[in-house]
Amino acid sequence: MNIKAVQGDLKETEYRYIVEPCFEGLEFQEKSSGNNKDTLAKIGFTGKENTHAALPSGNSVRIYVGLGKREKFNSEIMRRSYSRAVRVTAEMGAKDIAIIPPAMENSAFETAYISAITLYEFDTYRAKKRKFAVENVYIRTDDVSGLKEGCTAGECTNFTREMANQPPSLGTPTLFENKAKEIKGLQVTVLGREDFIRLGMGGIEGVSRAAKEPAKMVIMEYKGSDEKPLLLVGKGITFDSGGLSLKPPDGMVDMKFDKCGAAAVLGVMKLASELSLKKHIVGIMALTENLPGGNAYKPGDILKHYNGKTSEIISTDAEGRLVPSDSLAYGIEKFAPSRVLDFATLTGACVVALGNIYAGMMGNDDSFMKELVDASRKTWENVWRLPLDDDFKEQISSKVADIKNTGGRPGGAETAAAFLSNFVGETPWVHLDIAGTAWTEPTTPHVGYLADGATGFGVRLIYEYLKQKQ
Ligand code: BES
Ligand code: MN
Ligand code: ZN
Repeated sequence: MNIKAVQGDLKETEYRYIVEPCFEGLEFQEKSSGNNKDTLAKIGFTGKENTHAALPSGNSVRIYVGLGKREKFNSEIMRRSYSRAVRVTAEMGAKDIAIIPPAMENSAFETAYISAITLYEFDTYRAKKRKFAVENVYIRTDDVSGLKEGCTAGECTNFTREMANQPPSLGTPTLFENKAKEIKGLQVTVLGREDFIRLGMGGIEGVSRAAKEPAKMVIMEYKGSDEKPLLLVGKGITFDSGGLSLKPPDGMVDMKFDKCGAAAVLGVMKLASELSLKKHIVGIMALTENLPGGNAYKPGDILKHYNGKTSEIISTDAEGRLVPSDSLAYGIEKFAPSRVLDFATLTGACVVALGNIYAGMMGNDDSFMKELVDASRKTWENVWRLPLDDDFKEQISSKVADIKNTGGRPGGAETAAAFLSNFVGETPWVHLDIAGTAWTEPTTPHVGYLADGATGFGVRLIYEYLKQKQ
């Protein structure tokens, strides 16, 4: 699918489907649409949110997008309403869609972005391909660079979704390694089992012991400036069976999505490279399957992590905190980042607390967290701060090791973050628990632009955060 900028009018003789905005009270942006007022009123269209109307007009069809009350309008209302318009137009069988964006900040970016993510579907392994036949989206705008940027942000989000959606036997650590190596302008280093043992990375070594697919730590550096880097770490459990602390079947169904953190980091690296961002970013994906087996790590085992700390294994299903811990400690030592951010589908407890609406955010740096909240309000990839007082650490103290890998059910999201805090030292660090937001569930709000499966949560958020830092 191509997204192209068109300068000047979208002529009805040239475009069969034209989408245009309308505020509540039939307030049009296009003067000429005033002529259609009566017809639209007759069919009951007033421009309310979550409504649209399609009218024949000459040889083409006008799709009016209801934007609701002008005073209430914001970028998320825009994304939802335009997503709806793009979808209904696609459902009419359109090959080409022409779109008039609403007058707002970054309208070309937002229109391109929402078109790209609305039309994504995970159809790679289906004989019957795309539900939609859309080949071209034409957006009326003079902001060609904004459009290109929005298009790239959308495509990189879709790339993250595609990686995260891969079935567990195909979406392997090796696939992630290969995809990282395909991204231009990244310096990629890969550590494997022998390196884990040599370097004393007992967390990822332990969890990956019974894995059939070779485990990897994939380190990607994008150097668009000489500043200290931002370090991104992603949990990449390509399948989480729970290990010997085996999950019940119902709990295992969606565990191919346990690699969504790694997929988000990969998407951000691709975005940085494709937009040639003037930033220094290091991304680390901690990748392995978590499987049971004769050589699997066991409850009662004690693992020694890269920074020398030891952890007692209570549950092999609390693997998520063991794997990024070595990446955090290693990345901080090697790259001396100014800030560290990790993405992890870490706890069911976070889903219970925040549903499928907010990612849980915990960390050691107030201003870093505030900046992420600001970015998240813009992109609607919502984050909500959960507490991380030192008192949570007591819950994971161990009699036989420095810490243990679970602290029981109370405060499950917080004790998981407390575990990770052992590996970041004084470096400003934020942890995002994306267990509830990384893929859709029946309880996910129906925003229109997210097809079933992985959401790509985090890619646009980090891009917005980086832009604010400029
Ligand atoms: N990958 C899961 C977390 C998860 C569960 C994400 C459900 C999304 C939906 C993680 O590895 C895990 O199993 N966590 C356990 C931790 C517990 C054993 C302390 C959990 O949350 O139940
Ligand atoms: Mn688990
Ligand atoms: Zn997991």
